[in-house]
Amino acid sequence: MPVLLHLDASMDPAGSRSRAVSAALAEAWRSVSADHTVVRRDLHADPLPYLSDPALHWPPRLRPPGATPPADQERVQQEVLDELLAADAVVIGAPMYNYSLPATLKTWVDYIHVPGVTTPFDVDSQPLAGRPAVVISSRGGIYDPGTPTAGWDHEVPALQVVLGEALGMAVTVLTVSRTLAGFAPALADQIDTAQTEFDAAVQRAGELGRELGRELEGAAPSA
Ligand SMILES: Cc1cc2nc3c(=O)[nH]c(=O)nc-3n(C[C@H](O)[C@H](O)[C@H](O)COP(=O)(O)O)c2cc1C
Repeated sequence: MPVLLHLDASMDPAGSRSRAVSAALAEAWRSVSADHTVVRRDLHADPLPYLSDPALHWPPRLRPPGATPPADQERVQQEVLDELLAADAVVIGAPMYNYSLPATLKTWVDYIHVPGVTTPFDVDSQPLAGRPAVVISSRGGIYDPGTPTAGWDHEVPALQVVLGEALGMAVTVLTVSRTLAGFAPALADQIDTAQTEFDAAVQRAGELGRELGRELEGAAPSA
């Protein structure tokens, strides 16, 4: 039973572009077969509590002596780790907020990036290596290569480092830029380009959902 973990973080449930694109991928995944399952986690509607104890960055064997992280956060961490490890693929709707990740998504990352568990540290542990992760980054402005703000995107690079380098996942990024084109006067001439980019992302998400779903057809439950 192939499982897709579908995460969203936009605080705009009605008009969100990243939600629309991640939903297109999830719908395409489901269309592959009745066995293709989607596990949904809405990080905005049901935010995870912030980590309040540094011991939670480490598995129990690597925590300082006497560390007693909050039991409720330990439970949350186990839940989100189990959910991620059981997924054959992940899609993440990731709006850009202040050139970076939404706090809700960052908190999820804080829970699942655990040295010695999801990334190599004292043991060579990288259980998610090679598993597909599709990041859908929606942003109001323009950060395309060659533009004056090309270096201002601190969202996609951070997710590529954590998911791709540290966890070893096979990361694909779909960007939906210029989403404020109909609202910000400075982007008024970008409305058509914004729509074209959004339409292309929806289409590509559908293709990816079907491609990944077919590749993983018959996948045994993971981890
Ligand atoms: C709190 C907040 C901060 C934002 N910061 C940025 C930003 O730094 N750069 C940018 O291009 N757009 C920024 N935006 C605009 C969003 O990236 C844009 O509306 C995007 O489409 C949001 O994703 P969504 O459509 O999936 O909700 C911000 C929006 C909000 C609500």
